[in-house]
Amino acid sequence: MIPGDGVGVEVTHEVVRILDALEHELHLGLSLEQFDFGAERFLKTGVGLPPGQLEVMRSDFDAILVGAVGDPRVPDNAHAREILLGLRFGLDLYINFRPCCPLADRLSPLKNKGTQEIDLTIFRENTEGIYGAIGGSFKKGTPDEVAIAEEIHTRKGVERIIRAAFQWASANGKERVALGDKSNAIGAHELWLRTFREVAAEYPAIEARHYYIDALALQMVTHPETFQVIVTTNLFGDILTDLGAALSGGLGVAPSANLNPESTPLYEPVHGSAPDLAGKGLANPVAMVLSAALMLENLGQAEAARRVREAVRQTVAEGQCTRDLGGKLSTREVGDAILERLHRAPQ
Ligand code: NAD
Ligand code: IPM
Ligand code: MN
Repeated sequence: MIPGDGVGVEVTHEVVRILDALEHELHLGLSLEQFDFGAERFLKTGVGLPPGQLEVMRSDFDAILVGAVGDPRVPDNAHAREILLGLRFGLDLYINFRPCCPLADRLSPLKNKGTQEIDLTIFRENTEGIYGAIGGSFKKGTPDEVAIAEEIHTRKGVERIIRAAFQWASANGKERVALGDKSNAIGAHELWLRTFREVAAEYPAIEARHYYIDALALQMVTHPETFQVIVTTNLFGDILTDLGAALSGGLGVAPSANLNPESTPLYEPVHGSAPDLAGKGLANPVAMVLSAALMLENLGQAEAARRVREAVRQTVAEGQCTRDLGGKLSTREVGDAILERLHRAPQ
């Protein structure tokens, strides 16, 4: 576990308590090790992700939990990129799996659209696109300054995320997969469209629909029920998953998983370090707790994952929430409420 910065420290603290309780009751055999990577260590030592850490993660760990990284004292976000993007790229975690579904009808911000209508999962490409850091600045700080950021899309990278989306859709009884790209303006995105059509042909039972990303964003708000699975680029996926979080009740409830079936997975909330809330006990721990539930499920602990989700669902249903969900509880009190319901669950 890497608690990281800001509210990351507070929300991971609640997950530790929940995992301890599950360990005690269900004897999962999980052991947790904490790493102090984040702004504090970076400011002291200049190191974000220590050398050799990727190998350690690969060989010694079955999963990584991250709270959040980002701190106003590091304005260029250098440490966060080193840690988070370092792990995503270094471990080749090409699937950023981000489900969007409200835990209760009242959490949806849309009129007459609730848990029935909003239930979609975004497959965000997670290792290339404009995040490849190809480019740079020239004549910085002068009137002639030039800044270049290039997008990388490889056939291998595009094909594997599209295939992952279809595979998951097919294994989970979904009927439709949508692609979001900008091939009408960015010629290179034609690779996405062509690959999408080719992979879709292998899944005749699944309807494949193509959208330009701007129209897709609109449709997600006006007709979210259109979507079951969305596959898209790294940057578009970053933006769409905050929108998806908004449809689910906000960043306080949106979980995610960074996956590659052959590597060590990383679980984290969609939200960041929320400097405006940090240290005040106001952060919602639910997104982090649901990210840990995704971890438990993928570690083969389906019963533990089910219990966590059910306990979270109950706290939300009963209004035992932080302010972002209309409640009055602190981060710690929401953790207590979830723990209480976990203990109440039939053994
Ligand atoms: P943010 O997600 O931290 O915050 C956006 C808004 O959502 C804020 O109003 C915040 O108060 C609210 N919010 C976030 N988490 C919440 C929670 N758990 N409960 C209730 N409300 C919550 O995004 P930002 O402000 O754009 O970024 C802050 C820092 O976090 C930046 O340094 C950014 O780079 C970093 N960041 C990190 C990650 C990550 O580690 N995965 C993700 C996004 C942003
Ligand atoms: C996310 C975040 C990260 C991203 C940032 C902090 C680099 O916004 O996980 O959604 O852009 O992927
Ligand atoms: Mn984001």
